[in-house]
Amino acid sequence: MNEILISNLSQETLDETVRFISSYQNADESFVAWLGYSTNEIKSQLMALTPSFNERCLIAVDRGVVCGFLGIYVSEDQNAFRLLGPYISTLNNWNEVAMNLLNALKPIIPAHFSMAKVSFYNANVNCKRMYETNDFSLYNAEKTLILEKKSFTGLKEVTNPEIIIRDYHSSDFNEFIQIHPTTAYFTGSEVVKRLNHVNRLLVAELAKRVIGYGYFEIFVADEFAELCFLNVSPESRNRGIGSLLISRVANEAIKHQGICHIQISVRVNNQEAERLYTRNGFKEKNVIFAFQRDLNIYSWDDFT
Ligand SMILES: CC(C)(COP(=O)(O)OP(=O)(O)OC[C@H]1O[C@@H](n2cnc3c(N)ncnc32)[C@H](O)[C@@H]1OP(=O)(O)O)[C@@H](O)C(=O)NCCC(=O)NCCS
Repeated sequence: MNEILISNLSQETLDETVRFISSYQNADESFVAWLGYSTNEIKSQLMALTPSFNERCLIAVDRGVVCGFLGIYVSEDQNAFRLLGPYISTLNNWNEVAMNLLNALKPIIPAHFSMAKVSFYNANVNCKRMYETNDFSLYNAEKTLILEKKSFTGLKEVTNPEIIIRDYHSSDFNEFIQIHPTTAYFTGSEVVKRLNHVNRLLVAELAKRVIGYGYFEIFVADEFAELCFLNVSPESRNRGIGSLLISRVANEAIKHQGICHIQISVRVNNQEAERLYTRNGFKEKNVIFAFQRDLNIYSWDDFT
C-alpha cells in the first residue's frame, strides 16, 4: 500500500483541500460542524484562522492527491480548541488516517489547553466511533432550525415603545456580559472582537439598560445567516423581547443580498426557546451532537 503523507496545509494545496472539504461537508455522513459548505465560504474561514491556516491545518496526501483534512480553531479565552474534521476519503483505512492526523496535531496544540471539542451529525458514524473510542464524551445535542426567507412574515410590532432594538455600542459591554452565558461557545469578549458588517450584535434596551441581545453571523458565500446567540435577562422574559429580537435579526439578515435562510441551534431540552422559534416560523432540520475531551484527564499525548 502507498504511504499516506501528513503535512501542513499550504498555499499550493489550499484550493484542492477546500474543494475536498466542501464535497464531504455537504453529506450528513461526513459533516463536521463549523466550516461552511461552499468552497468560497470554507476558503475564507480557513484563511481567517489564527495565527494562520498553515499552522492550524493538516492534510493527508495519497499519491499527490488530498485524501484527508483536520484543522483546529483555538479559543485562547477558553483554553480550548475545536476540531474541524477529520474529513477522509479513503474508507478502507479511515481510522488509520484519522489517528495519524490526530497524532500529528500534537506539536500544534498549546500545552496549557484544557478542552478539545468537536460536533457532527449522528450520521457521521466514522467520527462518532473514532472520537468515542478516544475518550471524547457527549456533552450537548442541539437541533438546527431553519427559517426560510419566504416564511418570514415581516417585522414584529414594538408593543412597548420604551423598548429599543439597536446595534451594540462598546459602552454596553458590562451589561451585555451579564446576560451572555459563560458556557456559550464564544465568550462575550470573543463575540465583540468578531463584530463587523456581517457579524452583528443587536441589543434590546429598556430604560437605558441592555436587557437582551441577539448575535448573528452572515455566511455570504453560503447564502445564509446564523443566529448564534439569543438571550434575554431572566427578569425581562415573557414580554415579547425575544420575539422582537428574532424578528429584527431576521429583517437585518434578509436585507443582505442572496440570503435564503436563517439558521439557529437550540439544545434539545430547551423547549422554551424551541417553542419561541417554531412560533416564529423556524422548522427543524437536523440534530448536531457535541463531544469533548477533558485534556486535564486525558492528555493529547495519550493517543497511540
Ligand atoms: C429563549 C428566550 C430568549 C426567550 O425570550 P423572551 O423575551 O422570554 O421571549 P418572548 O417573551 O418573546 O416569548 C416567551 C413567551 O412569552 C410570551 N409572550 C410574548 N409576549 C408577551 C407579552 N407581552 N405578555 C405575556 N407573554 C408574552 C410568548 O408567547 C412566549 O410564550 P411561550 O412560553 O408559550 O412560548 C429567553 O427565555 C432566554 O434568554 N432564555 C435563556 C437563553 C436561551 O435559552 N436562549 C436561546 C438559546 S437557542
